[in-house]
Amino acid sequence: MTDKYAVIGNPVHHSKSPLIHQSFAKQYSQNMVYSAELIPLNGLEEGLKNLQALGFTGVNVTVPFKEEVWELIENKSEFSALAGAVNTITIQEDGTLYADNTDGVGLCRDLTDNHGIQLNNKRILLLGAGGAARGVIQPLLEQGPAELIIANRTISKAQNIVDNFTDFGNISATGFAAVAGNYDIIINATSASLQGQVPPIPATAVTHETFCYDMMYSNEDTSFIQWAKKQHAFKSIDGLGMLVEQAAEAFRLWRGIKPETQSVIKLLRT
Ligand code: ATR
Repeated sequence: MTDKYAVIGNPVHHSKSPLIHQSFAKQYSQNMVYSAELIPLNGLEEGLKNLQALGFTGVNVTVPFKEEVWELIENKSEFSALAGAVNTITIQEDGTLYADNTDGVGLCRDLTDNHGIQLNNKRILLLGAGGAARGVIQPLLEQGPAELIIANRTISKAQNIVDNFTDFGNISATGFAAVAGNYDIIINATSASLQGQVPPIPATAVTHETFCYDMMYSNEDTSFIQWAKKQHAFKSIDGLGMLVEQAAEAFRLWRGIKPETQSVIKLLRT
């Protein structure tokens, strides 16, 4: 039987997830299909029920449903429960839903395996405190950074994250203007690039040794990547590798196979 998977979102037509998962499936001769399913903005619960009824066995979740799915599904991984956001759902044989979040694993694998950036003992500045940021905090802290500072436009949201994750490592919150000193790694988890904007942190946060990472990606440089290049960051990296790596981790959860990712990243770049 052909297993059915999908990414749900609104909008979703731009999603590269079908191409990524179909590439993985082809590599390992998996009998599965993977589609993009548009869900009405106020129709998440019904949309998920429809997919269940149609026999789907796994679903990835993209904007704007990652937090709403978290609210909806009770049965979730410890990590996803803490993160407050879901990007991967497994529809189990008894029909129940199990929620997980592979974004943080994806980010860490892209940084460490694909770009050779060790996070241990590093000073990391994370911009943003929405679902995208929350999904990566615990895996980042598990890498043992010297400190993880979360800067956000709304400081109380950054502080909430800190309160949740304080047991996992050296983590603190601040506003953009109050960002002090410089960082080994700056990760943009805000959606500011979508509006062509850049979080207004001091340029002094970047040195010629800083890695700047935008969790967003687009065919052209995002506004954050343009800004980082202007500050002469050591390296400026977009989130395409993270996208492929989070998909690979979802594929591993569903199919029990950890796919090779380099060829898929290369395929998407071209
Ligand atoms: P996502 O799921 O992509 O994280 P979200 O939960 O809506 O989306 O969070 C968006 C994040 O980007 C938030 O941290 C938001 O800041 P606020 O918490 O202050 O709203 C941040 N953000 C959005 N637009 C921004 C902009 N133009 N400048 C700086 N930060 C921005």
